[in-house]
Amino acid sequence: VTDNEKTIEMTFIGHQTWLFAAGSTSVLVDPILGATFGNSVESTFAMPIFPPRVVDLEKMPRVDAVILSHEHIDHFNLETFSLLDRRTSVLVGEFMLDSVVDAIRALGFTVTRCPLREELSIGAFRCVLYGATSADIAYERRVTQMYLWTEPEINVLNTVDCLLSPALEEDVRTGRVPPPRNVIVSNNGMLPSDGARRAYYNVSHLAFDSRQCITCLLDILGGIRDLPEVEHVYMMGNGLLPWGGEYGPFAWADNGELAAMVNEISVGPVLFGPYPGDQFSISPPLAVGQAPWIDFDREKMEALKRVTDETQDKPAPAPLPVLTRPFPSEEAARQALAEVEAELVTLAPTLLATDVGQSFQVIDDPNYPALGPRRVLLYFDGGPGGRPVQYALDLNRSAFVPDDTPRHRFVETFPHGLAMQLCDFHAILQGRLGVWDTFFAPVQCWFPETTEVASQVNHLLTALGNIYGEQARPDLASKINERAVRQFSARQ
Ligand SMILES: [Fe+2]
Repeated sequence: VTDNEKTIEMTFIGHQTWLFAAGSTSVLVDPILGATFGNSVESTFAMPIFPPRVVDLEKMPRVDAVILSHEHIDHFNLETFSLLDRRTSVLVGEFMLDSVVDAIRALGFTVTRCPLREELSIGAFRCVLYGATSADIAYERRVTQMYLWTEPEINVLNTVDCLLSPALEEDVRTGRVPPPRNVIVSNNGMLPSDGARRAYYNVSHLAFDSRQCITCLLDILGGIRDLPEVEHVYMMGNGLLPWGGEYGPFAWADNGELAAMVNEISVGPVLFGPYPGDQFSISPPLAVGQAPWIDFDREKMEALKRVTDETQDKPAPAPLPVLTRPFPSEEAARQALAEVEAELVTLAPTLLATDVGQSFQVIDDPNYPALGPRRVLLYFDGGPGGRPVQYALDLNRSAFVPDDTPRHRFVETFPHGLAMQLCDFHAILQGRLGVWDTFFAPVQCWFPETTEVASQVNHLLTALGNIYGEQARPDLASKINERAVRQFSARQ
């Protein structure tokens, strides 16, 4: 580390959290400092950060500003905000959801919405925020990327969950901003090992083999080719542990290992796959170090990776997990079922209007030559009397109808389906469980899937995420956030 105050020191904290420091200014990005993520305080399902690490908050440098890129729960964490000094400025892009801004303000922070593509000054940093684009995956289109520099050649661009911003490319071309030399990209493959009991685990015979997914690196790194002055690329992400304990981390979740493989065969910029605590001092030349306030548990990481190898071909999942409080009484279960059935009346046409809903309409699918008007199955465990209930979406009526297909025939009968606990689906409708929490949890989903990225993100869980998530249903998000704010404020 040099004592040049123009040096940018970047510390990787885990998953997609970074601390950028220059001179006496430090900026924390997408802070998750605890062991788990998620804002649904009533959820009993912990979502651990991978690789495991402990952040010593007492020894962490003082933070002047937080930049929050977007609302997703692997970026926006109210528990972490509750641990920060309330004098820390919180900066968000102009399109940050009100439900997010309101929750951070409720904890006592001042939140500033910043215009995109205009230069800001944050202490020693100059900064421009850029937006996601139409080329980004549907639910990532509100993301704010950030470009920070102290001197033209001392800079870092964090693309967060997005492709490279075309607006940034244009600004580089026209000289409005310096050409990036350091770029942070996200490895968001999140492909569980085969057999992993997890939502993403697609039990359909038309699932894509996740072991082929090394090709996704082309998408991750492709955009960098258009920025010829890039010298160093830092790969983050994939830092979540799916259903920890029984199954290990995602395939290709060890970014250090992946980077070593890429550097072996590449003549392009040097790729880093940092582990928590790794520090990079950008002040040509690059210096690499370790943050003494982050305790990265390499042994535990290696042990978890062995679990992935051992469970690679583990057979199909055991009983569905319960993510929230089970119904306290038979009466509560009956009442919840009535509410869920009422919701299904509106869910059917809403679902049919989504991208994945339009794909249900196909009548000549060679994979399902005998397909009738029922295309989608919703199976809920733990209904009244402890019995499961199930409904099929009938396309001739745009309605969910009761169904009695035996469970072992679900996948061959219905191209799309989802199996989860009734209490969990009900909790989503009540704003007690975030719909994206089920995305990271071991509920069971199936859908036809090819190597096309679009087909891998076009399924019932993403559709439900878009229907009940923060973007379309801020009322549900606000209820979840208000519960979290109450709980974390009480701890002070
Ligand atoms: Fe995201």
